[in-house]
Amino acid sequence: MFGGSTTPIPLSASDRTRANTVYDHWAQSVDSYEQSVQVSAFSSKFDAFLAGKYKLTADEMAGFKLFDGKGNCNSCHLDGRGTTLKSGQTDSSAAAMVNPLFTCFGSANEGVPLNPRNAFYYETKPDSYGFTPNPYGFGYRDLGLGTFLRSGFGSGPNPNVSWRQYAPTVDGQMQVVTARDVALTPPQCPTTEAPGPYFQKGFFHNGYIKSLKQLVHFYNTRDKYAYPVTSGHCPPGTTEKVDCWPMPEVRNNIDMTSGNLGLTDEEENQIVKFLETLSDGFTRPYLNSDIFTGSCMKGGSAATQGNEFLIPTPPLPPCASAICGVAPVPGPKPIP
Ligand code: HEC
Repeated sequence: MFGGSTTPIPLSASDRTRANTVYDHWAQSVDSYEQSVQVSAFSSKFDAFLAGKYKLTADEMAGFKLFDGKGNCNSCHLDGRGTTLKSGQTDSSAAAMVNPLFTCFGSANEGVPLNPRNAFYYETKPDSYGFTPNPYGFGYRDLGLGTFLRSGFGSGPNPNVSWRQYAPTVDGQMQVVTARDVALTPPQCPTTEAPGPYFQKGFFHNGYIKSLKQLVHFYNTRDKYAYPVTSGHCPPGTTEKVDCWPMPEVRNNIDMTSGNLGLTDEEENQIVKFLETLSDGFTRPYLNSDIFTGSCMKGGSAATQGNEFLIPTPPLPPCASAICGVAPVPGPKPIP
């Protein structure tokens, strides 16, 4: 975009200062909006627990310990406590004096498969304004941070051109999302988990994961049940998202601190229970929240949720040259 320039419009020094001041004020208003109690409520069960006003149930507490321990979630989704990776290790850390945000604001490639149900792959024709969101169709690949460093397709310009050389070391990395409010749902459908009545969500950057149970199971077994197939093509006798994970969309720079955690089925469920304590609205309910008029979903199981609607991934054309042909090109593994 703009040939990688962050200042495509030439301005005099004094006009540049004026423009920068407007941007600064804009950022300050966004910042105070984000810090407001309406947006950053800190009104979850977990916040009440930190304040000594809620006692976690046995499963929630077990999930919290796994989040900081065997699950290793806390090394990226910071909850203000230390990480205890080995069994028998005790957490001697002091709780941080801030509201934990459940992100380190870093980036990682969790090896999420390409999701062929993503509408973006089909937006190949000009819309009513003549804009074509994705001229490459299934030739599109999401290189995440790597695309940003290349000022690549769909990304704003990288503000520092000397970072571009690092693109191949971060291809596929997405920003660590907060784990707060992942389980937030309208009151009519009180959970994200089948059999429900549940509210269907998509997790991770492309919505491939459909329930928190699946999400934790993915971190737990991604490498144990890895198959060199695309979504919709798991071998007979296996079930996608249960004992078959299709290959990652981007095979470079995969985070190896998770992928084979050795969690039991019950431990996975306990982490889900813990994630459910992170929904705001417990101490200060949202009385004026929008009224959800859709219907809740019912049936099935959280492990196979969404599999009713799997679209087999078509044979993938090579990654478009506007994405994978921009120097420095992705490597060492080819993009499937
Ligand atoms: C190495 C860093 C890292 C570790 C360890 C990690 N995560 Fe994540 N997490 C991420 C990144 C990066 C994303 C975004 C991935 C994407 O969108 O492709 C993410 C996304 C999520 C989300 C999705 C939020 C949403 O709205 O879609 C949840 C929930 C989550 N992680 C929970 C966990 C749990 C539970 C664990 C432990 C079992 C864990 N994470 C371990 C980095 C990590």
